[in-house]
Amino acid sequence: MSEKYTTHEYDVVVIGAGGAGLRAAIEATKKGASVAVICKSMLGKAHTVMAEGGAAAALGNKDPRDSWETHFRDTMKGGKYLGDWRMAEYHAKESPDRIRELEQWGAIFDRTPSGLTNQRNFGGHTYPRLAHIGDATGLELIRTLQERGIHTGMEVFMEYTVRHLFKTNGRLSGCFAYNRVDGSLHVFKAKTTILATGGITRCWAVCSGSWEYTGEGHALAYWAGAEMGDMEFVQFHPTGMIWPPSVKGILVTEGVRGEGGMLTNSEGKRFMFDYVPEMYREEFADTEAEAMDWVQSIVADETPTARRPPELLTRDVVAKAINSEREAGRASIHGGAYLNISWRPEEQVKKKLPGMYHQFMELAAVDITKEPMEVGPTAHYVMGGVKVNPETQESTIPGLYAAGEAATGLHGANRLGGNSLSDLITFGKRAGEYAAAAAVEIKEYLDIDSKEINEAIEQTLAPLKRKGGENPAKVVQDLRELMQLKVGIIRDGGQLQEALVELESFRDREISTSPGGTRIYNPGWHQALEIGAMIDISKMCAMAALSREESRGGHTRLDFPVPDHGKWGNINSVIVMDDNGEMNLSHVSYPPIPERLKKLLDAADLHEEE
Ligand code: FUM
Repeated sequence: MSEKYTTHEYDVVVIGAGGAGLRAAIEATKKGASVAVICKSMLGKAHTVMAEGGAAAALGNKDPRDSWETHFRDTMKGGKYLGDWRMAEYHAKESPDRIRELEQWGAIFDRTPSGLTNQRNFGGHTYPRLAHIGDATGLELIRTLQERGIHTGMEVFMEYTVRHLFKTNGRLSGCFAYNRVDGSLHVFKAKTTILATGGITRCWAVCSGSWEYTGEGHALAYWAGAEMGDMEFVQFHPTGMIWPPSVKGILVTEGVRGEGGMLTNSEGKRFMFDYVPEMYREEFADTEAEAMDWVQSIVADETPTARRPPELLTRDVVAKAINSEREAGRASIHGGAYLNISWRPEEQVKKKLPGMYHQFMELAAVDITKEPMEVGPTAHYVMGGVKVNPETQESTIPGLYAAGEAATGLHGANRLGGNSLSDLITFGKRAGEYAAAAAVEIKEYLDIDSKEINEAIEQTLAPLKRKGGENPAKVVQDLRELMQLKVGIIRDGGQLQEALVELESFRDREISTSPGGTRIYNPGWHQALEIGAMIDISKMCAMAALSREESRGGHTRLDFPVPDHGKWGNINSVIVMDDNGEMNLSHVSYPPIPERLKKLLDAADLHEEE
């Protein structure tokens, strides 16, 4: 007998309730669409809150020299020129309005002495650009959007996991989900669907993401036949907690370095001076004295004139430097680096970084106003994702849109800190606007094949019928350790090949897991269902990483340690499922950057003569 399910109908279904999903839902309801937001967790609990230090937008409040042109240039340069310049232009031009709009909706940003939205420095941004609320910016952003969203009439389905996307005649027609609390089954018919499911970093053993971050959004798009881009580029944020082991990976905001935090090794040396890449040499201080001049100017709230300290290099550079110091035997006592902000007066540290103060005090018994923190790289973000039209955010499947971390394009090979919050409000809005406009043109909901619904149900309930198999938690743990070891911050061809073989062996383990229990409140069942997505996502990363025989941004190969601008400088990877269900990799390029934008970039970085 077939299982019962409930059918819902909405013009626009938004999957995910982080910043991108909420911003999309607000826009879609504003355009008159009926909107459902489906979220895996409780509303308000999103990885968006892990973007602590701020949202990047060229408001020019703190330094009037800033402009959208400089933000565009910094984003392209930080992404090692692999990003989609069309998205970088929209983002740089539109993000200031998106920040001002958040203020109108009630977000309480920190202020400059003259009452403007305050902005702080972050890695790779030429000027102080991050609008912030202490070190809880993502949290305030979610609070604001959530409050705004529930008053616009969106309906929220909390604690639902989406398992399958339906297509009818090649167009996205809805999705299948189950309720994590009571195990009930649901079909959502939708005229358009927006994926705003965030990232994939739970595929690594050390990460800043919480349990939701298992990559189902990316996998759903892939399984539905969407093109996935640049999956080799995973960002390891340089500063996660490393001690005690129970908190390993939890984010230590880049805001600490933006407020003058210094990185040292076991010998007390400020090692970042040794790691300034050629492309950034002119912008960064050569000596501690010069770096201190800059820091003193920001502490005194003056316009900095000197060059920035090397701790504010882009995340890919800083994370690899910490890793290199460890390899060279100069790690901190628990295997990372020391990050010290205690030279600033106690009340300033507590005011600027209240979350960090409490985090270290409560989780590590470290008083950051008096002693250094210990930090090390943590998987934080994926630059790769669903390939989208830069203007509308529609994927290669008609009717399926993606925004925020689920989509790719803006960040190229490496994302600048703070560009995530501004990405998700800029492109969340665009996705909501275009998805709603398309939905209102469609008169009827498309039929969904009942056989496909029954298959989705069968696959979802299968783990509960199995007996005597492995515990899903053990399978997940082994997969995360494999990815950490073989597809981590530093990769090499041999290990990537091994990872690809070993990942295949997880498929048999996945289909034999038996969580036991029933459909009610059963975390083992949920975890058994996540493994399939984790295997495919991990495979995409390993496959794209193996094919890219160079090092660039968030992708570093021991066997190809430098960028190969001639061969890879404008090449993006694309993965799609072929007709036989196999993962297929190819390479494409974005259209050439027009002269009017090219002249904003650093000519020497473009390597055009090669
Ligand atoms: O370090 C941070 O506060 C993280 C910000 C981001 O990922 O954009």
